[in-house]
Amino acid sequence: MAREGAKPGAAGKAGSGKGARAADAPGGSAAAGSAAARDAGAGAQGAAGAAAEPCVPGSRVAASTPGAPCALSPEFFAAREAELRRRVSAKRFAHVQGVVRMAERLARVYGVDVPRARLAALLHDWDKGYDDPGIRARAREVGADVDPWVAEHMPRLLHGPTAACALRCAHPGIPREVLVAIERHTTGAPDMGDLDMVLYVADALEEGRTFGRVEELRGRIGRESLEELFVDVLGYWTILIIEAGKPLHPDTVGVWNAYVMKRQKPFVHGEERA
Ligand SMILES: [Fe+2]
Ligand SMILES: [Fe+2]
Repeated sequence: MAREGAKPGAAGKAGSGKGARAADAPGGSAAAGSAAARDAGAGAQGAAGAAAEPCVPGSRVAASTPGAPCALSPEFFAAREAELRRRVSAKRFAHVQGVVRMAERLARVYGVDVPRARLAALLHDWDKGYDDPGIRARAREVGADVDPWVAEHMPRLLHGPTAACALRCAHPGIPREVLVAIERHTTGAPDMGDLDMVLYVADALEEGRTFGRVEELRGRIGRESLEELFVDVLGYWTILIIEAGKPLHPDTVGVWNAYVMKRQKPFVHGEERA
């Protein structure tokens, strides 16, 4: 959107997949050149040296930069929060703040590390501000390992992987599980960890979401397991996307099948006739 395009890094929710949520205006744009220029002083700069090697956010053990504040410290959080405020629109920043609060709540309820949950929530939409050409360029720039079909047809869904790669290079002290959660937050994965699920659910159920079944789903917090809640939210968002006539990310079917098959008893041929 032109309004957000005036701010480096500001953009609407992704235009497909999970990003096609009703509350997330598809599309959105940003001055990709401005964002890239800004990132020359942040993630992209650090990513430059890693571009030759495909970036897989969880593939390396994060190492702290000597002298840098611990990535789980309040000081690091405050510094990234201030940086994020300059990267995104006020609406997006408010969404992120809501995700941080919801992630903290979920982490406390389900026994997940609170500082990691808060940091993942804070950084999950770090790269949300690129338009379609911009996020494709960003993916190349940071060496994100992305599906070419997704890059072509659902480029906004690249913002999770690109953010994880850029942040990994810019801030090596960020724990790998935080980066993985950021990478997975748009599509989920068949083997979601607790932190992954906390971020995914928090992104969907933060207080700024007021449409559809989100209030009912929020009522399930603490009443069902984290995995059950994640699957419920995944199913809800998937239905929303289908009802909106949007394409699904190719991985979504696999993620859905992986979890619903865990819920079902093994199928025995012929048992339906018993
Ligand atoms: Fe996102
Ligand atoms: Fe988000």
